[in-house]
Amino acid sequence: MEPVIALAASSARDESAAGSVRAEAISLLSAAGQRDQLPFLQSLLGYEIPFEVQSAAISAMGELGSKDDAQMLLKRWNQLGPAVRRSLVAACIVKSDWSAALLDAANADPSILNSLTDSDRQRLLASSVVAVRERAAEVFAAAHTSPVAEQLEALQVADSLKGDTAHGRELFTSQCSMCHKVENVGRQVGPDLTSLTDRSFQAMLTAIVDPNAALEDKYVSYLVTTKAGENLLGSIASETGTSLTLMLTDGNERTVLRKDLQGILSTGKSLMPEGLGTAIEPQGIADVIAFIQQARPPHSKFPGNEPQLVAADSSGRIELLATKAYIYGPEIRFSTRYRQLENWLSERDEVAWQVDVPNDGSYTVEVEASCESEVPDNTFQIIAANDRIIANTPPTKNENDFRVRPIGTIKLSAGRQEIVMRAAAPIKRRLLDLRGVYLSSTPKQ
Ligand code: HEC
Repeated sequence: MEPVIALAASSARDESAAGSVRAEAISLLSAAGQRDQLPFLQSLLGYEIPFEVQSAAISAMGELGSKDDAQMLLKRWNQLGPAVRRSLVAACIVKSDWSAALLDAANADPSILNSLTDSDRQRLLASSVVAVRERAAEVFAAAHTSPVAEQLEALQVADSLKGDTAHGRELFTSQCSMCHKVENVGRQVGPDLTSLTDRSFQAMLTAIVDPNAALEDKYVSYLVTTKAGENLLGSIASETGTSLTLMLTDGNERTVLRKDLQGILSTGKSLMPEGLGTAIEPQGIADVIAFIQQARPPHSKFPGNEPQLVAADSSGRIELLATKAYIYGPEIRFSTRYRQLENWLSERDEVAWQVDVPNDGSYTVEVEASCESEVPDNTFQIIAANDRIIANTPPTKNENDFRVRPIGTIKLSAGRQEIVMRAAAPIKRRLLDLRGVYLSSTPKQ
């Protein structure tokens, strides 16, 4: 063995060295093409070993190993932590014989399939090797005709039912609040449902019926046993070279040192239970989704913005001014310069007006906005209880050039309600600056 390789091998083995140093040494071994190091690399996998070292060992095996090695690694899937799993998937995607092994394993084990992100799938579907592309198409298509797909189909009726938010709140409290928090009810074991990017009915329904689809690694549940004999169930919220931090199902965090671990075993599933889609009848689904959709984090406050109930003027015209809007989201701001909403950069940015509509009917909608012509076309939506409009952002000379422009008509029912405006698609650069939305009742023909 050349001296530099021997040195690399010995620092890769050195347990007292920092994880990053060992990882570096391992990549040296693989760069030197040392196939005889494979058994050694295998021995570097285990929950007691810093994850950087395990990840480096997996990439090195990807460089040096054969399809058998990929199969051996994939068999150990349930014992790998989230960061190491990511490295394994990455190593499989870059090498076609490993991709084939990954697809076979994904076909046999839903937890592997579910851990593949959209971009992993696209890369496999676009592989330069025909056999990999075809196998990927087959494996991903088979996953669509599952019982889950049938349940989703059956629950589509809930979309046309009117959600009762009071009943939704009760259901939420009994079925969901042990893991989600909305309006001060519940605990934060799962994601914050008031700040989801996609709050549409379809997105929520899919999340409820099929929690294991599009599962983020940090929410996969693990059974962790310690040398002291404890069994802990939770997700691995974060990991360092020497410890794991678990988010337990009771909402508490717990950090365990790697050296105190007896073993870790992934259940391969989300902490969120399956079967909620069958446990709750369609009306209940409509109610709980309506409850989550109307719940928001507290609105942002800016000088000059005074959210308030908006009423029609004597001619029946309703002016939804930026000054009277409730403003939500991470980026959007109110400015007193033109009394406009600006910095509308995020899909989570939205504004809502509380409106008292005098009469049922059809209303013409005009928007007073500016949008520099260099900003790409974006689409936004204005949403009422039973109708909505989608329109393109208006190009104007510059951001100070506000114009009033008609964008269509919307049906409103009489009474107090909320009207919401937000992006209708991912925002390219920024949406628009807005002074107001004006509704005038169109005479009946
Ligand atoms: C035992 C814990 C638990 C319970 C009970 C639970 N959830 Fe979840 N939920 C999670 C976890 C963890 C995630 C994130 C992982 C995932 O998407 O499966 C999640 C994800 C979601 C998402 C998707 C969030 C996103 O970021 O896309 C929605 C929507 C959701 N849950 C709604 C509900 C509703 C509605 C109920 C009750 C009917 C419920 N959950 C019950 C744990 C739970």
